Amino acid sequence: MDHFHYQDGVLCAESVPLARIAESVGTPFYCYSSATLSHHLAVFRQAFASIDHLICYSVKANSNLAVLNLLVEAGAGVDIVSGGELARAARVNCPPERIVFSGVGKSSAEIRAALYRGLLMFNVESRAELERINRIAGEMGKIAPVSLRINPDVDPKTHPYISTGLRKNKFGIPHAMALDVYQVANTMPHIEIVGLDCHIGSQLTQLDPFVDAVRRVRGLVELLIENGINIRYLDLGGGLGIPYREEEETPSPALYAEALLSELEGLNITLVLEPGRAIAGNAGVLVARVEYVKQGEEKQFIITDAGMNDLMRPALYEAYHTVIPVQLNDSAETSIADVVGPICESGDYFARDRMLPNMAEGDLLAVRSAGAYGFVMSSNYNSRPRPAEVMVRGDDFSVIRERETIESLMAGEQIF
Ligand code: LLP
Repeated sequence: MDHFHYQDGVLCAESVPLARIAESVGTPFYCYSSATLSHHLAVFRQAFASIDHLICYSVKANSNLAVLNLLVEAGAGVDIVSGGELARAARVNCPPERIVFSGVGKSSAEIRAALYRGLLMFNVESRAELERINRIAGEMGKIAPVSLRINPDVDPKTHPYISTGLRKNKFGIPHAMALDVYQVANTMPHIEIVGLDCHIGSQLTQLDPFVDAVRRVRGLVELLIENGINIRYLDLGGGLGIPYREEEETPSPALYAEALLSELEGLNITLVLEPGRAIAGNAGVLVARVEYVKQGEEKQFIITDAGMNDLMRPALYEAYHTVIPVQLNDSAETSIADVVGPICESGDYFARDRMLPNMAEGDLLAVRSAGAYGFVMSSNYNSRPRPAEVMVRGDDFSVIRERETIESLMAGEQIF
């Protein structure tokens, strides 16, 4: 459920017409609905209400401070993967006991910063990382809380670039080596084992891979507890998919919770979850203006002022995003078109061979489901300033990140 709807033929975010925002801030821009973000978090929490749990929103999905602030104020924790994300969590005053630190390549500086600030746990991905954390914690006179991220070798049946729980992926500690590494960790003087973690991939549209993964790690949790190792937190990562097409059905957080909880019965742990996309994905759109409509020999191209540098998911994963006009025109004819950007690459598209109402120069369109992995993955390719980000609340909106300027693009560069 989201709050992007047509009112009298005009696409609105909550009660604000997107055209009004376009007039005020220019295009392209990302627009997030605060009510949708809050709603998605509430639905997730409700789904797991029957057990002890902590929702740690995965900051990588959308790390804008206004987004983080809203979620943290509503009680979410955060899943971070870098010193930059740690600083963002600190900026919105996320309590340390609600921060989990994931990622395969934590640098010494990042480990130090997290220990200095405090956190619920590091999700440790290798023995080498464990040793490094133990050493740094020792130097700082601290005890580092850790979970080991276990790779359960389960096929998440999603895009290969966003599968992480297979044996061939770089992530986690192999299931078969888990007990050994836990035993080593247990002897380290500056490590306190607090949990077990596992994340198998992103945009999962089926529940069985989650269930397979939980089954595999549940056995391990029981084995660890039998061996006297203290597992208080079970972190099952993120990964719940969202519908990118109107007709697409993905499991609701309630069904996802039901599937997980039935596998966890009788286990005395606090469940940690790290949803990113399920919270932010359908809470945002990218709004662009049509620059040109070009009739090619085979099809029409709708050329917009947003490009793959602003939203790279189609170029990177051939991801499908629904594209809709901001102003409905019932009498407009439809035709098949590609919606593309101005960048010098054929991968620069948002939609291919899509049946769309005919559009004209100056029209606005919205690329849906752009709230997660949209702005955060944008770049300045082709020396394009990144778009503004706007948040809507009710009938009000605010710019939560200014559009970059051409001057800002060159800041820090020097002629040698
Ligand atoms: N936890 C860990 C350890 C992760 O690696 C990820 C995502 C998440 C949580 C959040 O997953 P989510 O609930 O959002 O599926 N750029 C790609 C997605 C990459 C996801 C990477 N890890 C995309 O645009 O589809």
